[in-house]
Amino acid sequence: MDIVHYSVLMEEVCEYLKPIRGDEFFIDGTMGEGGHSNMFLTRFQDVRVLGLDADSVIQQVAMKRLEGFGSRVSFENCWFNEFFENFDMYNYERPDRILLDLGISVFHYEKSGRGFTFQKDEPLDMRLNPSTLISAKDIVNTYSEVDLANLIYEYSDEKLSRKIAKKICLERDKNSIETTDQLAYIIRGCFPPDKRHGKTDPATRTFQALRIAVNSELDRLDKVLEDALKILKVGGRFGIITFHSLEDRAVKKFFQAKAQKCICPDNYPQCKCGGEPEVKRLTKKPVGPTEEEVKINPPSRSAKLRVIEKLSETRSVLV
Ligand SMILES: C[S@@+](CC[C@H](N)C(=O)[O-])C[C@H]1O[C@@H](n2cnc3c(N)ncnc32)[C@H](O)[C@@H]1O
Repeated sequence: MDIVHYSVLMEEVCEYLKPIRGDEFFIDGTMGEGGHSNMFLTRFQDVRVLGLDADSVIQQVAMKRLEGFGSRVSFENCWFNEFFENFDMYNYERPDRILLDLGISVFHYEKSGRGFTFQKDEPLDMRLNPSTLISAKDIVNTYSEVDLANLIYEYSDEKLSRKIAKKICLERDKNSIETTDQLAYIIRGCFPPDKRHGKTDPATRTFQALRIAVNSELDRLDKVLEDALKILKVGGRFGIITFHSLEDRAVKKFFQAKAQKCICPDNYPQCKCGGEPEVKRLTKKPVGPTEEEVKINPPSRSAKLRVIEKLSETRSVLV
C-alpha cells in the first residue's frame, strides 16, 4: 500500500499522549492515512483507537493500513466537531486521549485530484467531504469582490488580497474559473515579475485561504475545542497540532482560559466557580519539530503541538 503522508512530531506526540494504564482509549480526530494511530497501536499492545475523518477516500487508506489491528481500531466518517457535539448519539466510551493533527494530508495534494494544489492542473474543488455545499470553484466564481478580498486576507494575511480579488472578478466575467491552473495564473499575474518566481509560489496563500474557507476549518476548530474537552475523561490528555498562526492562536487562547484558576466575572465580590483550573497545560510553549525532522520533512517546520491534561469536569459559574 502506498502511504504518501509523513506524520509530524511522532516522538513528541508519543511522549505526551502515551498510555499510563496501558489500555487507554484514543480518539484520533484527524486520522488521515493513520500514521499517528499506527504508531500508538504498534507501540502499545492494549490501546484502542477510534479514527475520525471527514474524507471517506483517505479513510479507506487508513482502514487498509490498520486492518491487522482488528477490533482494536474503529472508524467514523464525520467532521470532528460534529462527532464531539453529538457524542451521545454514538456508542463509545469517553476517551482517555484525543489527538487533532489539523489541516490536510499529503494525500490530498498528491492523490485526491480535488485541486488542493496549484502544482497540478485539476478541477477547483478543495472539499474534504462531498456533502459540503460550496466548493472553491463556487467561491471564486460567485463571491463579491469585497467578500473574496476579505476571505483571502483573513485566512492567509495576503497583502495583495484586494488586487487578487479584483483580477479574479475581471477574469471570471470573461470565462468561468474552473481549474487550479487558471486560478494560479490569475494570482501570479497580480505580483510584480520579480516576485513571481521566488521560493514560495505567489498562489500559495490564496490557495490556503480558499481551502480554509471551503472546509470551515477555523469555525470547526473553535467548535470542537469545548466539546472535545467536555467528552474527555478526567485525567485524560488532549493534544493538538497546528500549522498556521490562526489555528495556533485559537488553541493557545482556549488552553490558557481553561487553565485559569478563577473564571468568575470581574464584578463578582468573591469567587463562586471554585477557583480550581479545569486543565493543566503540559506544554506552556508549543513543541516544534527537531532540526532532524525538518531536514527529512520540510513542511513539518510549521507544526506546533500543544497538550493539556484534564483536571476536572467542566466548571460553570454558580449564581
Ligand atoms: C494532517 S492530516 C492527518 C495525518 C495523520 N495524523 C497521519 O499521521 O497520517 C489531517 C486529516 O484530517 C482530516 N480533517 C481535517 N479537518 C477535519 C475535520 N474538521 N473533521 C474530520 N476530519 C478532518 C483531513 O481529511 C486529513 O485526512
